[in-house]
Amino acid sequence: MELEPDGLGVAAVLQDCEHERTRAARPPQRPWWLMWADLHVMWRSMGGPEAGIRILGIVGSLGARSSNLTLLETAASVAPDGIEVLLYTRLGELPYFDPDIDPDDAPPAVRALRQAIAASDAVLIAAPEYGHSLPGVLKNGIDWLIGSGELERKVVAITASVPHSERGRQGLAALRQTLGAVRAVIVSDEPIVRGSASEATMRDVLRRLVDGVRETRRRSG
Ligand SMILES: Cc1cc2nc3c(=O)[nH]c(=O)nc-3n(C[C@H](O)[C@H](O)[C@H](O)COP(=O)(O)O)c2cc1C
Repeated sequence: MELEPDGLGVAAVLQDCEHERTRAARPPQRPWWLMWADLHVMWRSMGGPEAGIRILGIVGSLGARSSNLTLLETAASVAPDGIEVLLYTRLGELPYFDPDIDPDDAPPAVRALRQAIAASDAVLIAAPEYGHSLPGVLKNGIDWLIGSGELERKVVAITASVPHSERGRQGLAALRQTLGAVRAVIVSDEPIVRGSASEATMRDVLRRLVDGVRETRRRSG
């Protein structure tokens, strides 16, 4: 289930991150958002009974009819109560990573991505394999995050929407290697075969992400 952005100070960014298809399906802003947001923030800051979990879904394909985007939309639709899945579909708007740019002076699109990740408990990346590796736009996005640290020790699941189970694995292996540079905690890295079982498989991926977030919270007290 996809919940509305809350009041953690990044609602605008996250709302902006949502895909137009998702946004188009939404009703206009409702006043109860604010009430819910206030309660949600209070709930999180009190740490219990258990703080809600926000997962940022990042699609590694720029295709308008991307099967990986469809997979993330499935994640948003099957997420249980208390688990919020928001979609980020704007990797194509990031400029090429440039090490000469002052980290405090990053372009707005980069700052938006960094904020969206910082405001999330976990990240779910669904990306195609291109040329036996990860897509260039995704690598570029991660390059922008390596120095700034938002992915550092983040709980992350990676997957690829594939026609059969042997496809996509080299792309996922390359993505896993890149995420190793930020010591991301990878809780799942299997491709998901398109078809009737994909919803159940995605539920399992979400469970792993939630378990990873709970473990991180438990360790940090
Ligand atoms: C330029 C290009 C290179 C590709 N390279 C691979 C590849 O190396 N291995 C693979 O399994 N699929 C490869 N594919 C297939 C894509 O990974 C596959 O079509 C994927 O589902 C596309 O994802 P999307 O629907 O989210 O855009 C390639 C596709 C394109 C267009």
